[in-house]
Amino acid sequence: MPCTLDQSFVTKGSWKPDLFKDKVVFITGGSGTICRVQAEAMILLGCRAALVGRDDKKLIETSNELCDLVNDSERCLPIPNVDVREYNDLENAVHLTLKKFGRIDYVIAGAAGNFICDFMNLSPNAFKSVVSIDLLGSFNTVKAATPALIKSKGSILFVSATFHYYGVPFQGPVGAAKAGIDALSNNLAVELAPLGIRSNCIAPGAIDDTEGFKRLSKPELKESVKEMIPLQRLGTKKDIAESTVFIFSPAANYINGHTLVVDGGMWHTGTLFTKEMYPHEIVKSAKTAIAKL
Ligand code: COA
Repeated sequence: MPCTLDQSFVTKGSWKPDLFKDKVVFITGGSGTICRVQAEAMILLGCRAALVGRDDKKLIETSNELCDLVNDSERCLPIPNVDVREYNDLENAVHLTLKKFGRIDYVIAGAAGNFICDFMNLSPNAFKSVVSIDLLGSFNTVKAATPALIKSKGSILFVSATFHYYGVPFQGPVGAAKAGIDALSNNLAVELAPLGIRSNCIAPGAIDDTEGFKRLSKPELKESVKEMIPLQRLGTKKDIAESTVFIFSPAANYINGHTLVVDGGMWHTGTLFTKEMYPHEIVKSAKTAIAKL
């Protein structure tokens, strides 16, 4: 996948070129559509990056592309075969990062899994799967990296969502997981700030050309989704990258325990991604479940 950002992010953007020089970011889900652009922004502004993920081919490809972006083959470390559900995998990934770069200043807990499913069709294992990747995976990531963050007086960014701000149908597991992530971030904002660490969340809305958007919406519904967003456009991956840079920059030094919603105001409209399915799909599922009794 080609990079979304280029040098114009540095030459024409809002940030100082060497904002993150000598710093290191540790990113789970680093070859995913949103997280890799967060990585692009950090790298363009001088950071080194450890990209952590499950898929080794995709991860190595992403890492090479990010190094090419800044003409520096040492700027990125791909750490494949890591399942965020496994704490030992994360501990090992942190160890490899420290061995290569010597420090970790920023953590992006971005690995996530999601699908559309109503409660009646949701198996206990399906619920567990999403909660384990999103919530437990975020916990494992931050837990493993915290000793390094204490040393660097670093900063944590969880990737949350807006699915739990109201009763979004077909999004139960992810809503429950992201609510837990917000709670965890708030807890860490209080417990870790005396040690010099800030903890915040970013909550992306409908971001164009991402895995999440593809899973939640159909291409033919794009125009109608846009109309439901107060700013009348889908978000871009660059929008998320800019907000990420802001949260890690010294400009956000006093921001701690905050969730930055980057959704063009979408959640205020109570927008339902899956509104074309509501409520008839739920009624249909319930009838099937009752018929089995
Ligand atoms: N609807 C309902 N249930 C589903 C489902 C769907 N679309 N996809 C998977 N499941 C269920 C499976 O049936 C299984 O439950 P069962 O054992 O009772 O049958 C359970 O979820 C686990 O499935 P499995 O394929 O083993 O999951 P996994 O843990 O390997 O993968 C997912 C996790 C399911 C979240 C998968 O979608 C994933 O890996 N996603 C990563 C990428 C992603 O979602 N990105 C978007 C980020 S917003």
